Amino acid sequence: MNGENIVLGVTGGIAAYKSAELVRRLRDAGADVRVVMTRGARAFVAPLTFQAVSGNPVHTELLDDKAEAGMGHIELARWAGRVVVAPATADFIARLAHGLADDLLSTLCLATTAPLIVAPAMNQQMWSHPATQDNCRLLEERGVRIIGPESGSQACGDTGPGRMTEPSDLVAALMTPPGAALADRHVVVTAGPTYEDIDPVRFIGNRSSGRMGFAVAAAAAAAGARVSMVAGPVRLPTPPGVERTDVRGAVEMRDTVMRVVRGADLFFGVAAVADYRPRQQAGQKLKKGPDRQHLDLVSNPDIIAEVAALEDGPMTVGFAAETEQLEQHAREKLSAKRLDMIAANRVGRAGTGFESEQNEILLLWPGGERHLGKGSKRQLARSLVSAAADRLRDRESIETRTDQDSRPASG
Ligand code: C5P
Repeated sequence: MNGENIVLGVTGGIAAYKSAELVRRLRDAGADVRVVMTRGARAFVAPLTFQAVSGNPVHTELLDDKAEAGMGHIELARWAGRVVVAPATADFIARLAHGLADDLLSTLCLATTAPLIVAPAMNQQMWSHPATQDNCRLLEERGVRIIGPESGSQACGDTGPGRMTEPSDLVAALMTPPGAALADRHVVVTAGPTYEDIDPVRFIGNRSSGRMGFAVAAAAAAAGARVSMVAGPVRLPTPPGVERTDVRGAVEMRDTVMRVVRGADLFFGVAAVADYRPRQQAGQKLKKGPDRQHLDLVSNPDIIAEVAALEDGPMTVGFAAETEQLEQHAREKLSAKRLDMIAANRVGRAGTGFESEQNEILLLWPGGERHLGKGSKRQLARSLVSAAADRLRDRESIETRTDQDSRPASG
């Protein structure tokens, strides 16, 4: 964003207090920021706050001789490299959709040729209202980029979609080139092994290093996605732009995945989840006993199969690490777990698979395949993410066509 001119429009929602942080982060990224506030926004935050953090005068009035003498709406519209409205209220989105120009910000949005980016923030019921949804669709059709909103607890006490995307995520999204393969998508990745505790000092684990999962998370973030990664016990640095939750056992991994996966577009199950866990975990270290010991094991949840079975769930991509009959076993897993895609790799040979930097992947999906070949886990992760993004787009265009076909014909 070095030297980029950004006009930040702030409208009247409680999320306006976060916009001061957004200005700071935009400036950290190298942008020059000028803030335009609506009257509603000024009820929440004083213009002086934005003047102090942006280092520029704040613009509030359309019909004000002094303001127009400084930098009028047309000059501001021309100055802007991009116009970002965050937070954008339901009212502002409606006015924008209908081309109203009754204050400085709405007039500037009409007068500019700069790309327009809108980060909605409102009560979940207002967001879900067909009027708001239709307005957003209309804006998107006109090329306006809509980022968020996120789901969660709201200032009004409700829980649901309507929270403004966090300033750091907004800046990350703004720094992603438009048209990046996974721009504005939410991707969830599991990575690493799981440790199934036997007692306070012993566990059942496996040799997964987590490198492949971390590489997939990094590649998805680089392709513009918001990435949530649920990682088993590994000591690897978190890739930039990835939100990481650390877990230990399969049950904890499943519970965490189910919490974050709601509304996600794409799920990569890269973790080497243990198939079984001890039926009971001893509270104290087990003592040495007779020559033969039995460990009573119970099945773990199949996380990716549970995600694949979700109604309106994300597209699911699994991994199959096999030592023999690679394609056959991977195809069996693809259909048994009802996955959309599976990345098959051979393990047990020197130089690829677990604990290695290198890997070799055969990508399979119902009715198709692509050999991604041999390469570093990072290269393969990029190819895999790009192939999955292609499939996601194909899948959605088929769904749209099916929806249209199933609508009763008019006339
Ligand atoms: O262990 P398996 O070979 O069946 O793993 C295939 C795929 O299923 C992998 O993507 C793995 O992450 C996922 N998996 C899972 N939960 C399990 C077992 C496997 O998500 N309990």
